[in-house]
Amino acid sequence: MSSVDLYVLESPPALHEAAAEWVAEGIRVAVEANGSCRIVLAGGTTPRGLYERLAATPYREVVPWAAVEVFFGDERCVLPDDAQSTYGMAHDALLRHVPVREEAVHRIRGELLPVEAAMEYEAVVREATGEEHPVFDLVLLGIGADGHTAALFPGTPALAEREALAVATCSPTPPAARVSLTLPVLAGGHYVAFLATGAEKADVVLRTLVPLGEDRLPAAIIRWSASDLTYFLDEAAAAHLDRD
Ligand code: 6PG
Repeated sequence: MSSVDLYVLESPPALHEAAAEWVAEGIRVAVEANGSCRIVLAGGTTPRGLYERLAATPYREVVPWAAVEVFFGDERCVLPDDAQSTYGMAHDALLRHVPVREEAVHRIRGELLPVEAAMEYEAVVREATGEEHPVFDLVLLGIGADGHTAALFPGTPALAEREALAVATCSPTPPAARVSLTLPVLAGGHYVAFLATGAEKADVVLRTLVPLGEDRLPAAIIRWSASDLTYFLDEAAAAHLDRD
């Protein structure tokens, strides 16, 4: 772990704006350095407002979308047009509104059996990046109140995976069948960001962010292994932090 930036915003819309600026700047920097940017999108309800913000002025126009390669940190095993699909949400809120290339959107096929979808996604990621162990430029993540992140849940064997890029996992809340990128892949991103809003996240934010907190929760493992980590929190999610 080398650096942690903490942004506490007064409201979810302010958080979406701050995170949109961060994403836009991260894309600009990566494209300037490499000619492209690999971004990993998060699921859940929190990032939707961020995606909608990125799909609107000025980000829709100024971000070099044609140079962006889109990946997903996890997926629920449902059809892509299901209301629960992470791809479906990202498509609806962001991808259909910006000039990202269709072939640069690498979704996890939730319509397959979870193990098949995980194996296929691993191959898709390797093919798209041309790398055996790809490093993503930007990784967006949510946090569950139980400390899960992406589809990596506390106390599950998936947390020990060091070789595979993607695994089939099981969520305690429906839909149960999920596919997730693994901890080393997510934590290995150049810039990693957690987004959390609401009072129900205040406890887990405290437990995973501070030294001597809970270090076995998936979100905490990422917190302590990512090299450049940013937290975007609203006041409610940051309520238990000592901010002096
Ligand atoms: C999902 C996720 C999951 C999510 C957190 C936070 O698809 O459910 O990838 O890890 O990010 O559960 O979800 P909320 O933003 O809905 O609180």
